[in-house]
Amino acid sequence: MIVLCAGRGDNGAPCCALTLAPMTDITQATKNLPVVCNDEACRKQAEGLAAQLRQPLLLMADPEQLIQTEFVLLVDGDGVALQQTGRKAPGPIRADFVGGAVDHRRKFGGGKGQMIARAAGIKAGVYPQILDVTAGLGRDAFVLATLGCRVQMLERSPVVYALLQDGLHRAHRMAAAEDPALLDILQRMELLPADSRDYLAQLGSATAPDAKLPDVIYMDPMFPEREKAADVKKEMRAFHSLVGKDEDADELLALCLTRARYRVVVKRPRKAPFVGDRPPSFQLEGKSSRFDIYTVRKLPDSLPPA
Ligand SMILES: C[S@@+](CC[C@H](N)C(=O)[O-])C[C@H]1O[C@@H](n2cnc3c(N)ncnc32)[C@H](O)[C@@H]1O
Repeated sequence: MIVLCAGRGDNGAPCCALTLAPMTDITQATKNLPVVCNDEACRKQAEGLAAQLRQPLLLMADPEQLIQTEFVLLVDGDGVALQQTGRKAPGPIRADFVGGAVDHRRKFGGGKGQMIARAAGIKAGVYPQILDVTAGLGRDAFVLATLGCRVQMLERSPVVYALLQDGLHRAHRMAAAEDPALLDILQRMELLPADSRDYLAQLGSATAPDAKLPDVIYMDPMFPEREKAADVKKEMRAFHSLVGKDEDADELLALCLTRARYRVVVKRPRKAPFVGDRPPSFQLEGKSSRFDIYTVRKLPDSLPPA
């Protein structure tokens, strides 16, 4: 059994009282994806990962030459990465909260004026507790945590989960040593291996008096041809090959709507149809993506961080 911090009590205070039955075995769905390690210092970590995912471990193997498999998981001094094989393969994909675009957005992003903040209802004095039911590489969750919210992330793909878990561990290590502001953000993020449909089903319904529901549920299911930036395309292709297209997003949204205390936010490509053909209460539209917001009830004027 696993005991989790799941949301707020009826007085708005955070509570830690959800007990879950054992999760579905997260290794079930993993395809052929060897773990490659060419760095003796990381061998133990690679062995652990290969065992966790029930995949073969290849030592001293060159991903450029491994044409029998489309992707490998590379373990080296920079952490765990998903690497396409072959000579013309793009670079590795990893969860990164310390450098790159995510870090840049933390330092120079638009704060509470960002579309994602408005979609989630974040403003001065209002910091909803958020359940991200499609964690992926955790970038959206990181932005929400940067804005002051506590974010629980659920990810059902064992490989994506392993990438995100590794990114969070590396960031924690670095932040604990030299970046207290980053550490503060990371401490608001919690990752769980779960299919969100199972997780939500166990949360109880909004009508139950003791329901421990998240204030806001955030959903960003896979969708083909989403954004145009080259690195996003590279990542999308890899993700499609690993996790498919999240064809059950309709079902997930229907469940989210019965479990969110205040609202459900769905991120979509700008021109994509509504999930489940369900028109939202309102929309916020950006250049390439939009947020469909489904209001359950009005957010209060004051909601302290959970
Ligand atoms: C487009 S990605 C999310 C990207 C994420 N918003 C980010 O900022 O990195 C969608 C992810 O949701 C996961 N997912 C989809 N449906 C899920 C479900 N029912 N339960 C848990 N994870 C799910 C997929 O495995 C995939 O990793």
